[in-house]
Amino acid sequence: RRMTAGPVFITGAGSGIGAATAAAFAAAGHDVIATDIDGAAVAAVAAALVADGGRATAHRLDVADPEAWDALAAELRAADRSPAIVVNNAYALVDAPAHEQTEADWNRQLSVTLSSVYRSVRAFHASLEAAGGSVVNVGSVHALVAWPDRPAYAAAKGGVVALTRQLSIEYAPWVRVNCVLPGSILTKVWDGVGDAGRSAAARQASLGRLGRPDEVAAVILFLAGDGASYITGTTVVVDGGQTTSVIDVG
Ligand SMILES: NC(=O)c1ccc[n+]([C@@H]2O[C@H](COP(=O)([O-])OP(=O)(O)OC[C@H]3O[C@@H](n4cnc5c(N)ncnc54)[C@H](O)[C@@H]3O)[C@@H](O)[C@H]2O)c1
Repeated sequence: RRMTAGPVFITGAGSGIGAATAAAFAAAGHDVIATDIDGAAVAAVAAALVADGGRATAHRLDVADPEAWDALAAELRAADRSPAIVVNNAYALVDAPAHEQTEADWNRQLSVTLSSVYRSVRAFHASLEAAGGSVVNVGSVHALVAWPDRPAYAAAKGGVVALTRQLSIEYAPWVRVNCVLPGSILTKVWDGVGDAGRSAAARQASLGRLGRPDEVAAVILFLAGDGASYITGTTVVVDGGQTTSVIDVG
């Protein structure tokens, strides 16, 4: 295991891409601060990493709650574990056309998926800058192309791309800020989708299958690390080729 400059802070780490990202960083020797609104889920993720010889702690955090960010930042500062790397991965999604989204639905999705990125740099810019650190935001191919019934999600993910670019210039040259845009990745998001829906999604990708969470985590780990030392303000699409063509390649 390689030791690194400082802890990595991950939101939505109780499941899916966030949990896989926590595992990837732990396996690379990082001290992992795993956070999620689901405290039990993230506790199980952290416990498994520790059982496997990694360093990790679990913390309940609703990324839409500014005071919770302040409290957790203070707790980490007191423990001398302020992060050198932040992965903003939590999201919220309400499937409905725009006119059927309530104000509360709309605001919640923007707060969890987009404003959380702002809250993360407000909470951790000092330790990010001191460490010469990195922020990796988890966007979506929804930032590039539209699907029905996801207006707030699309707006939030498009906002994440713009905010990534913006933060990359505000905190340069000390902090690199990048974004991954996953395509169809097999997490619990797909639990409610039947075989027909899954194979339709697989056929949209030139690689002919859905992606795995660890295939996104590997790119996040790369973007946060020294191998990406000249990459900032940009996006990496991790979609098996889903957005490269308008034809059904399957
Ligand atoms: N799975 C896909 O097909 C796909 C595609 C494109 C983008 N993404 C993006 O990948 C990221 C992770 O998605 P996933 O598929 O792993 O989902 P997931 O549902 O498996 O995991 C998301 C985690 O976020 C947590 N969470 C939800 N609201 C939260 C909040 N307010 N505060 C803190 N944590 C919260 C959940 O409890 C859950 O553990 C999201 O940003 C999502 O938009 C996923």
